[in-house]
Amino acid sequence: MKINDRLKKIGDLVQANSFCLDVGCDHAFLDIYLVQRKDHIKAFASDIKEGPLHQARENIKKYHLEDEIECRLGNGLDTYSDEVDTILISGMGGRNMIGIFKAHMEVLKKVNTIILSPNNYQEEVKRFLTKHHFYISNEELVKDGKFIYQIIVFSKGHEHYSKKEYFMGPVLLKKKGKLFREYFQRELKAREILIQVLPKNYRFKKFLVKREIKMIQEEI
Ligand SMILES: C[S@@+](CC[C@H](N)C(=O)[O-])C[C@H]1O[C@@H](n2cnc3c(N)ncnc32)[C@H](O)[C@@H]1O
Repeated sequence: MKINDRLKKIGDLVQANSFCLDVGCDHAFLDIYLVQRKDHIKAFASDIKEGPLHQARENIKKYHLEDEIECRLGNGLDTYSDEVDTILISGMGGRNMIGIFKAHMEVLKKVNTIILSPNNYQEEVKRFLTKHHFYISNEELVKDGKFIYQIIVFSKGHEHYSKKEYFMGPVLLKKKGKLFREYFQRELKAREILIQVLPKNYRFKKFLVKREIKMIQEEI
């Protein structure tokens, strides 16, 4: 099965012997990739809409993986059950992800690993989960088409992070590399444009944006 680089990278971050709940599975390509690795991964592929889940069922049937992947229809973590130790959510906004966790805070006490690829508000997501007994154990950047995506792995534990670490990623700051520089060059450009267009009386917002510009310039 052909899978895009973003989903492949997420799949490669899942540990062997995991039981995953993929929230917002859509076509279930990630789940199919995971169980085809043949290192004892099981998955619940869940989605809030029947349309995507129907497509997921068809794809799972095509690869004869009905014993390894179960489809569940439902909103966010309504589809969670106790076998799950790893939650995967990708391809949606960061605030949507936070809303999904807030609706089922008890799940955060039960799972060991959460792998997220939020399309935006990554810093808010990191702050939310680190406030609730997770730390950032790994981070990756992946380029797929013209976009660069962040993937963040949260594991059980505590860690204190600086503003710069929340903003740029504590693990990414250590790893850096070519894609890191490309990603933050783009972020820098977006903020330089923002500074130009912000109205004069947005002083506090300008202060925050300038602070982020300085942090980026220090690191790229
Ligand atoms: C853009 S697709 C992403 C699919 C896949 N996870 C990926 O990264 O390519 C977003 C999927 O999330 C589903 N979704 C959005 N909000 C959801 C929620 N609260 N609970 C479950 N699924 C949700 C949508 O129906 C859609 O199928």
